[in-house]
Amino acid sequence: MAEIRNPQLALSGMQKIDWVRAHMPLLDSIEKRFEKEKPFAGYRISMSIHLEAKTARLALLLKAGGAQVAITGCNPLSTQDDVAAALANEIDVYAYHAATPKEYARHLRMALGHKPHVFIDDGGDFLNLLLGDETELAANIIGGCEETTTGIMRIKARDAAGLLPFPMFNINDADCKHLFDNRYGTGQSVWDGITRTTNLTIAGRTVVVAGYGWCGKGVSMRAKGLGANVIVTEVDPVKAIEAVMDGFRVMPMREAAKVGDLFITVTGCKDVITKEHFEVMKDGAVLCNAGHFDVEVSGRDLDNIAASSFDARQNIRGYRTADGRTFYLIAEGRLVNLASGDGHPSEIMDMSFALQALCCERLIKLGKTLKPALYSVPPVIDQLVAHLRLSTMGIELDALTEEQKTYLTGWEVEG
Ligand code: NAI
Repeated sequence: MAEIRNPQLALSGMQKIDWVRAHMPLLDSIEKRFEKEKPFAGYRISMSIHLEAKTARLALLLKAGGAQVAITGCNPLSTQDDVAAALANEIDVYAYHAATPKEYARHLRMALGHKPHVFIDDGGDFLNLLLGDETELAANIIGGCEETTTGIMRIKARDAAGLLPFPMFNINDADCKHLFDNRYGTGQSVWDGITRTTNLTIAGRTVVVAGYGWCGKGVSMRAKGLGANVIVTEVDPVKAIEAVMDGFRVMPMREAAKVGDLFITVTGCKDVITKEHFEVMKDGAVLCNAGHFDVEVSGRDLDNIAASSFDARQNIRGYRTADGRTFYLIAEGRLVNLASGDGHPSEIMDMSFALQALCCERLIKLGKTLKPALYSVPPVIDQLVAHLRLSTMGIELDALTEEQKTYLTGWEVEG
């Protein structure tokens, strides 16, 4: 079954999937095993995740492992219609680009309507439905996997309140996820999204990065490499010191707003840039967001402060104030690397999605024996993914001798 924009786009979508397939060797090696062992035979998996080529590749891997897979997006602007069309020839797809909030919610429900045993969430929209008014859809759930920081925040809050009815794996906090996906993936793909959408020079511009977490570190590091003058805003004193020692200026947003040329929010928080900041912002400032939800740059305040607004360029909205200044917002303030780009590079998502595939397998294997809670990805899976990745890069490691292991785990000081 499918609810997609246009089946005729399938060829272009297939080409995109084949391209990433050639650059995701970890998923290939897992697929070879899954094809033989069929760990998901007889099970249904539903996915809510940015629907582009790398996630399509993951969905096809799960299918190769025997699962009946249904997929929808996790953001109305990140779905790529050609990929959705190609995927609809293989699995059930309910998503199209620029879905209205009502359509988006319907697609989530349709994907959950398959009554999955395992679900993959990116930001927690499935979980919200399963624990909200759609509890009957949770009847078969063994557990789920959450991809991103914002989704993990939601699960932690529910778990703390005793409201998590099944086990979930915290993919985001695995080393092979956030150290690479959030830092290097976001670091690269945010700049790809911004430069392809604006066609502007970054060198010499003052770039303000809000949030110096894993994503913010990557975005700032690459901004420096592109020649920007980087300012970081933070609320955590330790992260602020890290930013200072990494060579960035740190100041409150109310100060940064006066001098920034280009603003990137990546905090997972809301109302990071609001009216008080627009009031002092320079003419021509460009704004975008890389955090999960479109709540970081206040679109409501932009609408209120603007005397008029217009389409400045594809995926860029211009807002003109009564005093003659113009601000530009990329991709409606939705995460710029996916709403206005192709997301993270394939090799990075190869690691993140290897974790997803292996944790789905673990959920099926351990079945209902796991108590409801948020679980870390087992270190053995994290290490396996790291080893696989190194071997695909042809990089070898040293190994500890037995004597070294004893030394490192004991208390004796050797003379
Ligand atoms: P993190 O928790 O490592 O970092 C967030 C940082 O923002 C923290 O240091 C926090 O102190 C800071 N912060 C919070 N509120 C703030 C405020 N009002 N002003 C300034 N700083 C503030 O989280 P991470 O992993 O960096 O993720 C950030 C967001 O990006 C999340 O919404 C996450 O889901 C999303 N994300 C987006 C990706 C993408 O492809 N665009 C990829 C991975 C994560």
